[in-house]
Amino acid sequence: MSDLKMLELSKQRVSCRNYLDKPVPDEILKNCLEAAHWAPSACNKQPWRFVIVKDDLLRQKICTEGFLPGIPMPWAVKAPVIVVLCAKINPVTHWLAPMVSGINYHYLDLGIAGEHFVLAAEEQGIGSCWIGWFKAKYIKKILKLPSNLKPVSLITLGYSADLPLPSRRLPLDELFRENIWKK
Ligand SMILES: Cc1cc2nc3c(=O)[nH]c(=O)nc-3n(C[C@H](O)[C@H](O)[C@H](O)COP(=O)(O)O)c2cc1C
Repeated sequence: MSDLKMLELSKQRVSCRNYLDKPVPDEILKNCLEAAHWAPSACNKQPWRFVIVKDDLLRQKICTEGFLPGIPMPWAVKAPVIVVLCAKINPVTHWLAPMVSGINYHYLDLGIAGEHFVLAAEEQGIGSCWIGWFKAKYIKKILKLPSNLKPVSLITLGYSADLPLPSRRLPLDELFRENIWKK
């Protein structure tokens, strides 16, 4: 066991695909949002917006009509909360700058904020799973999102009904080099 809380928390978080029928307290959600909003972002634009979907009908619509075909996710509807992580696009930082640098900063920003969110959830005993295989246009329509909000990921949240096993990771020494990329 390491003394590093962050290392332990990162190892502890695994995708949760089996949820208990138990609501997530608002206080926990608030802590997750607060953790997310301290994330760094390109030009400090803080482009993240979170739609917290608890409504039964909306969650059912998301889970029956809102996923792309080919990856069945029947477990998702059991999650008592679905977070729709949206990007509020700033024309200079998220459109003009990426044309120069080739880097889409809003995806980075939302990834960082989203992971703050799920780690804060994990720390409070709440399981989560990122879902990227969804129909953004449909989600935008049913949640009545304004045109400048772009859904970039869903995150299911809830108390886990089991203890999911950690999935495999590449060995650390395959993932980094010092100074230059030597084989
Ligand atoms: C951006 C992103 C999109 C993902 N999309 C899906 C998805 O559509 N469906 C799903 O079941 N899991 C999805 N996942 C979860 C990954 O499958 C999972 O994180 C990966 O297999 C590693 O497992 P772990 O989260 O348990 O460590 C996604 C994860 C990320 C980060």
